[in-house]
Amino acid sequence: MWGVATSSHQIEGQNDKNDWWAWEQSGNIRGGATSGKATDHLTRYAEDIELAAKLEVNSYRFSIEWSRLEPEEGQWNQKAFEWYDNLISECEKHNIVPMMTIHHFTSPTWFTDKGGFCNPDSPQIFERFVAKVVEHFGPRIPLWITLNEPNVFIIGGYIAQYMPPAVFSPQKASLASYHLLKCHVRAYEQIHSIKNRKGPFTHIPIQVGLANNMCDFVADRPWHPIERVIAKLVRHYFNTAWLDAVTGKRQHFGLPMQIPKANIVEEAKDRVTVDFIGVNYYTKAYVKWYPKDQNSETIKQVPLGLSFARKSEESSDMDWAIHPKGFKKIINKAASYNLPIYITENGIADKKDTQRPDFIYSHITEMAKAIYRGVNIKGYYHWSLLDNFEWVLGFGPRFGLYHVDYQTYERTATKSAGYYRTIIQGFRRGIPNDKKKIIKPDLEP
Ligand code: BGC
Repeated sequence: MWGVATSSHQIEGQNDKNDWWAWEQSGNIRGGATSGKATDHLTRYAEDIELAAKLEVNSYRFSIEWSRLEPEEGQWNQKAFEWYDNLISECEKHNIVPMMTIHHFTSPTWFTDKGGFCNPDSPQIFERFVAKVVEHFGPRIPLWITLNEPNVFIIGGYIAQYMPPAVFSPQKASLASYHLLKCHVRAYEQIHSIKNRKGPFTHIPIQVGLANNMCDFVADRPWHPIERVIAKLVRHYFNTAWLDAVTGKRQHFGLPMQIPKANIVEEAKDRVTVDFIGVNYYTKAYVKWYPKDQNSETIKQVPLGLSFARKSEESSDMDWAIHPKGFKKIINKAASYNLPIYITENGIADKKDTQRPDFIYSHITEMAKAIYRGVNIKGYYHWSLLDNFEWVLGFGPRFGLYHVDYQTYERTATKSAGYYRTIIQGFRRGIPNDKKKIIKPDLEP
C-alpha cells in the first residue's frame, strides 16, 4: 500500500465538542492559536480525496472524530455518520483503500469530564462506541488502527503536559495505560466480529493494528553511564511497551522511580491482539540526565531532558533531526515481533519544501532495503496529505504534501507531492530493481 495519513481534529475543523477544542480556548497553543476551521476538510473532503488520488496512492489513513459521532453520551449524530460514509465513498470512487483510526488523541468532553481513560468504566464506554462504529462502517473498512500512539498520548497528557488533561500524574499515566490496553483488546475483538462485508475492498482481509510512535533514543553523552541506562529504559518504555503488550509479551507500562507499573490486563496476556504493527517514525532523541542547556525539552518534575537534533545536524522546521539511519533501527525492532508492518506515519515539517524530497527518498530507501532483507512491510503512509493543525504548535509546522493557505483554504501541490508520486510510480514499475541502490528520481522543475 502507498498512502497518506491525516487525523480528524487536525484537518476537519469545528470539532468543538472534544477535549482539545476546550483546551485550545484557554491559550494553551503556541501563539494563542485555536484549531477553528483547521483546513476546512469538513466541506472540502471530496476535493482532498481527489488530491490524494492525484498522488496515485492506493490507501488513505484517517481518523474518526468520536466527539462528532457521539457528541453527548449515548446520543449518536446521524449526520456525522453520513459525513464519514461520504468520505469512504470518495475513497472507493478513487480506488483508495481506507485505513480507519478509531482514536487519534481527541476525546469528547463528556468523556474527559468523567475522567477520560482514568475512569474505570472507560473500556466499556469505549467499547460501546467501537461497537457502533463497527456496526456502521465495519463492512466497508479493511484496515484499522485502534489507537494512535498511546505512548505519546500518555506522556503528553499525564507527564509532559503538552496535551489535555495536561496534569503531572505518574499514577494516572499507568492507570490510563491499563485502561487503554483494555480498550485496544476490546476494539480488536469487535473489529474481528465484522460480517457481511461490502464495497470494493472485500478481497482485502480485515487487519487491525495499533500505531506506535517510535523514536531513536540515544544517550546525549555516549560515555555517560547514567544517560546510557536511561536511554535504554526510555527505549524500553516508549518504543516497546505497547508492542510487547499487544503481542502477548510482558506488560511493562512503567519507568523505574518515575512511573509506577500498571496492573496487568488479563485479557491481553499471552495472546496477540494485533494483525500488524503500525510504526510512526520521525526522528531521534538525545536523552539527557539533568540537562542544563536551553535546547532541551524538560519537565520540571523529572530530571530528564530530550532534544531532537544537535546544532550540527540537518533538521526540520521543528528541530527534529533528519535521521533515516534511525528508521532502519526502528524497522528492525518492529520486525523482531514477526508480524507484518505498516509504516503508518513518516514525514517532516518543512515549510519551504526544500528538505522533504530528500527526506522521502532517504526514508523510503531504508524501507525498501528492509523489504529486500525480508522484512514484511506492507505499506507506507506519508504524514501528511495536507498542512494541518500541529497540536500544541498550532498551524506553524507544515507537514503537507499539499500546502494550505489558511486565509482562503486553497490547496497547492508542493514539489514533494510530484516527487512522492514519481517514487510510487517507480516502485509500481518494478524500480528499484537493484537490491543495493534505490534509484533516486529527479525532482522535476
Ligand atoms: C501524530 C500526528 C502529528 C505528527 C507530527 C504524530 O506523533 O500522530 O498527529 O501531527 O506526529 O508531530
